[in-house]
Amino acid sequence: MTTSVTAVETTEEQAHFDALIEADLRIEPRDWMPEAYRKTLIRQISQHAHSEIIGMQPEANWITRAPSLKRKAILMAKVQDEAGHGLYLYSAAQTLGITREEMNMQLIEGRARYSSIFNYHTPTWADMGAIGWLVDGAAICNQVPLCRASYGPYGRAMVRICKEESFHQRQGFEILLELAQGTPEQKQMAQEAVDRWYWPALMMFGPSDDASPNSARSMAWKIKRFSNDELRQRFVGMCVPQFEALGLECPDKDLRFDEETGQWIMGEIDWSEFEAVLDGRGPANTERLKRRREAHDSGAWVREAATAYARKQAEARLAA
Ligand SMILES: [Fe+2]
Ligand SMILES: [Fe+2]
Repeated sequence: MTTSVTAVETTEEQAHFDALIEADLRIEPRDWMPEAYRKTLIRQISQHAHSEIIGMQPEANWITRAPSLKRKAILMAKVQDEAGHGLYLYSAAQTLGITREEMNMQLIEGRARYSSIFNYHTPTWADMGAIGWLVDGAAICNQVPLCRASYGPYGRAMVRICKEESFHQRQGFEILLELAQGTPEQKQMAQEAVDRWYWPALMMFGPSDDASPNSARSMAWKIKRFSNDELRQRFVGMCVPQFEALGLECPDKDLRFDEETGQWIMGEIDWSEFEAVLDGRGPANTERLKRRREAHDSGAWVREAATAYARKQAEARLAA
């Protein structure tokens, strides 16, 4: 008897959920949602949060060596923004019923994924420019449509994040522009950094849609609004005139615009490299996780002090 009542309720709830999605309304934490929707969102939002946090490392590497006070201030602000993005996103994921501690343990124990792009090294100052321009640029293409994601807390977090990402992309472009207009050596350094980051940035959109099994379901749930290939097209279209403005060459020598289809025809992406980095065999996978664990351990006293302070405050309130 109980089972059948539950089944009827679930069907009604499912119908309500479907109607909200259909009407382009938001699903909020108080609403019933299918378990698979909840799990997909927890995975996506927590991976996104981890990427913001791990993504601080390749750039933090250059804060002490930025070429001027102005550049140092800009880079510090950018890296701090990424920490903030991680925090908004962990908070959004917490509304789905996972704790911050659990997400943190998944990351430091190597059970969670984060964007592969952060497993590459940053050997020169020009890499700061290439990351801002290409990596944050690709992130913007991915993230602007997420502002309309069907899950309310995720969409709202993305609105704030996207505003800051635009600044990140501009500062990266400006670093490259200054180098590209500098000495031949500086221009060469800018070109080499762009050569290092261009292909990994294209890989940030993920494999082609036919090779991406979860894409269709995420689109039906209106978490995702465009396919990986559509977003990659948009990104390449954005980069082409900017390469010209910079006076740098696009590393994809086969890239051309097909007038008939209105699509960019790109050179072959090396997906074996993508898979290798995803599987933990990228240039800096081990280093990134090691650093994250060290940061977690050395921050233990802060967490303990904050917990003790909160306990004292609670006790004082009870005694009053
Ligand atoms: Fe970010
Ligand atoms: Fe960013």
